[in-house]
Amino acid sequence: MSDSITHPLDDPGADPFAVAADAAADIARLTGVDRHDIALTLGSGWGKAADLIGETTATLAATDVTGFSAPALAGHVGSLRSILTSSGKRVLVIGARTHYYEGHGVRRVVHSVRTAAATGAKTMVLTNGAGGIKPTWTPGQPVLISDHINLTGDSPLEGATFIDLTDLYSTRLRDLARHVDPSLEEGVYCQFRGPQYETPAEVRMAKTIGGHIVGMSTTLEAIAARESGMEILGFSLITNMAAGIQTTPLSHREVLEAGQAAEPVISALLARVIGQL
Ligand code: HPA
Repeated sequence: MSDSITHPLDDPGADPFAVAADAAADIARLTGVDRHDIALTLGSGWGKAADLIGETTATLAATDVTGFSAPALAGHVGSLRSILTSSGKRVLVIGARTHYYEGHGVRRVVHSVRTAAATGAKTMVLTNGAGGIKPTWTPGQPVLISDHINLTGDSPLEGATFIDLTDLYSTRLRDLARHVDPSLEEGVYCQFRGPQYETPAEVRMAKTIGGHIVGMSTTLEAIAARESGMEILGFSLITNMAAGIQTTPLSHREVLEAGQAAEPVISALLARVIGQL
């Protein structure tokens, strides 16, 4: 692929934080907004939230910003938006996630998070669509991420960078989200590499080791966000029961449809939570 040859993060000598600083400078120039306060990555099912958070003052193609890759997937929008909330906060909405399973390396996976930090954002809200393990959960239900298990075997940290991950998914922000919706449940998110869905045996393993949610994103981004000093809030939309918990085969189309059906409700919830940040 030609873009993997020219991509600034693929040069082993590149400093990923310098590339993120360049991206933040692009965002400031193209949006006319020098600093953002909050960043929000929209996973499948969460796309409509951007319309409800406030006034969109600029929309950028992610590919116009240094280091961002074209989206790999239908259902994932490749744009960045700058939104002004009614309380005067600037929100950078990232609709352009690079997934680990795309095989472009972790630097590209976490570039959006490092860029968000370089724009000044102190809060990182990560959302995704995922499979549910808890039998009481139903597709279409949003849940808070309370902690994670990173099963990729990989890390965005380079060198001997020892980062504390206690309270990675901020207790304070989870409490705040539950203040908006007291019925919100929470669980431990397990990131598998993907892109294949898990086997029932892998889901049983995830359950045994303490997982409640299975997905293919988020953990590497959360680690990078913590490294950059941001406070993190994570939401999963349960689009399906995980393999073996549901007895029918999983299909990407059904996952997308569940996301679309839930979108109005969970987007309104997310917008209300963002309004409280
Ligand atoms: N597993 C992994 N990723 C997912 C799932 C799942 O069941 N559903 C949506 N994304």
